[in-house]
Amino acid sequence: MKISKKFFFIGSGNMAQAIIRGLIEANFVEAENIVCNDIVKEKVLNIQQRFGVSIAKDKRKAIIEADIIFLSVEPQNVFKVFDEIRNFIKRKTVIISIAAGITTKFIEDDVKKDVAVIRAMPNIPALVRSGVTALCKGRFVSNDQFQKAKSLFSSVGKVEVLDERNFDIITSLSGSGPAYIFYFCELMQEAAEKLGLNKKVAEIFVVQTVYGSGKLLEMTRKSAKALKEKVKSPNGTTAAALECFEDHDLQNIVYEAMKQAMNRSRELSK
Ligand SMILES: NC(=O)c1ccc[n+]([C@@H]2O[C@H](COP(=O)([O-])OP(=O)(O)OC[C@H]3O[C@@H](n4cnc5c(N)ncnc54)[C@H](OP(=O)(O)O)[C@@H]3O)[C@@H](O)[C@H]2O)c1
Repeated sequence: MKISKKFFFIGSGNMAQAIIRGLIEANFVEAENIVCNDIVKEKVLNIQQRFGVSIAKDKRKAIIEADIIFLSVEPQNVFKVFDEIRNFIKRKTVIISIAAGITTKFIEDDVKKDVAVIRAMPNIPALVRSGVTALCKGRFVSNDQFQKAKSLFSSVGKVEVLDERNFDIITSLSGSGPAYIFYFCELMQEAAEKLGLNKKVAEIFVVQTVYGSGKLLEMTRKSAKALKEKVKSPNGTTAAALECFEDHDLQNIVYEAMKQAMNRSRELSK
């Protein structure tokens, strides 16, 4: 599916670039229908060079011309952005926000118009069209507008429609989740090097281990717990490592870390 709507991305950082790349590669939207803006000039110039999108010379004009405003600045900058754009948003414009913690109600109240607001929590594997996005809609979104948003994010991975009250948990799970996996990879690689393995070799084996394990989870549809048990033979090497994780209460560390991420998302909405 290709749509001919005009997109305006406010904030052209990591996540916006991942989505723009995914949308163009998936042939969901033509680069000529994407306009970008960022306070860091090099970012928009880079994105223009890489993807052939346009740069907004006049933010107000870009807002007026856009069918879909994509809000992809850091949550703490959302307030400032709305101060700049509030008066130029047309009633039939759709606002898609990916800002962690910012609710649809906050945006609706701020814009003070019956404008369609869709909240999304994507993740960085959208860059390779293997992301997962949670979506919910505000009060003024039509079925057709929501359907288009679903198609948009489907072009960069899986999409699940969720109740907005779950968004802080989802943010701590899949929004931040890739960083936990990368951190674990970093630690495994460092440990292998410390144990005497060459850096390059350690990297190759970590990458393929994570890639293959993710694929196995996805393809077999078996639970992570069941697959873990398949690797673990009684009294074997895996059991020795897993026991060490348990002794150091990794389960509780993961729970506490995700709770911190969830609470931070809640704080950002205030
Ligand atoms: N990264 C992820 O994996 C991920 C996943 C899910 C959701 N998100 C959400 O996506 C949003 C963007 O995250 P990100 O990682 O892409 O951040 P990022 O790389 O820092 O990109 C945000 C960009 O917006 C710019 N910006 C700030 N205020 C602006 C303004 N008033 N007008 C135009 N541009 C402005 C920033 O400039 P400065 O750097 O100068 O501030 C920065 O270049 C966040 O709200 C985050 O919660 C991110």
